[in-house]
Amino acid sequence: MSTSLDTIMLVAKEAANNAASHLMQGFRGSLNIRTKDGRHDLVTEYDTQAEKIIIDSIFKFFPSHNILGEEGGSIDNGSDYTWIIDPLDGTVNFAHGVPAFSVSIGVQRKGQLIAGVVHHPPMNDVFYAQKGSGAFRNGNTIAVSGTDNLHEALVVTGFPYNAYENPEKCVDTFADVIKAGVSVRRLGSAALDLCYVAAGHFDAFWEVRLNAWDVAAGKLILQEAGGSITNYEQGEHLLERGTLLATNGLIHEQMSKILCP
Ligand code: IPD
Ligand code: CA
Ligand code: CA
Repeated sequence: MSTSLDTIMLVAKEAANNAASHLMQGFRGSLNIRTKDGRHDLVTEYDTQAEKIIIDSIFKFFPSHNILGEEGGSIDNGSDYTWIIDPLDGTVNFAHGVPAFSVSIGVQRKGQLIAGVVHHPPMNDVFYAQKGSGAFRNGNTIAVSGTDNLHEALVVTGFPYNAYENPEKCVDTFADVIKAGVSVRRLGSAALDLCYVAAGHFDAFWEVRLNAWDVAAGKLILQEAGGSITNYEQGEHLLERGTLLATNGLIHEQMSKILCP
């Protein structure tokens, strides 16, 4: 199978679509819910089944590629290509019947993001981007907002499962943004949060200690939509576990000043 970007994109969309259909079969049905490491960190049989569906869909075309999957499906074949998968981002919402969850698939070549798909099954929205080709939802171009005044902005955040321990002062920074008079939402799917900044619904998103599978696809979609993504200090954003600030670019500095005064 050719590894052209177009082919990779088709396979990524197909894999996300297959997983999304499966998730919708389980949504608001009876679920087998377990907790993972933290007391709020849930996993259902749909997380693991959706990951298997995605990996099978990828290996049908690219059996020699690498996989980094949240639910343990990591496979190192020594390939230049790595597929970074969150089969169900927003498990807590899914488990509670709240329609804010997504399937996230990012693809790296030699460590660089080249393709990303985030599928939001309840809305049937598919966000996607290839490096250098813009960002799209369901075939339509998307772009970040033009809001340059923080007091007119709508921003979104998320919290790690151990938020009660205040890691990276996440509770304090949340209070600081609220006290600055900014309108804040919390959706519960980081991949969707990034896509909603990319599409201009939100003007900024911040969170700490996310994993590569939460952000790989959404990061490329946001950048291709004209957004900025850095750590809180406006330095390079690393996929793994650091601080993340994603904005429309125009309010990046203003948000950074609140997050690290
Ligand atoms: C979680 C979601 C949530 C974010 C958490 C993530 P999961 O992913 O993205 O929005 O706040 O930090 O762990 O566990 O539902 O895949
Ligand atoms: Ca996740
Ligand atoms: Ca997940």
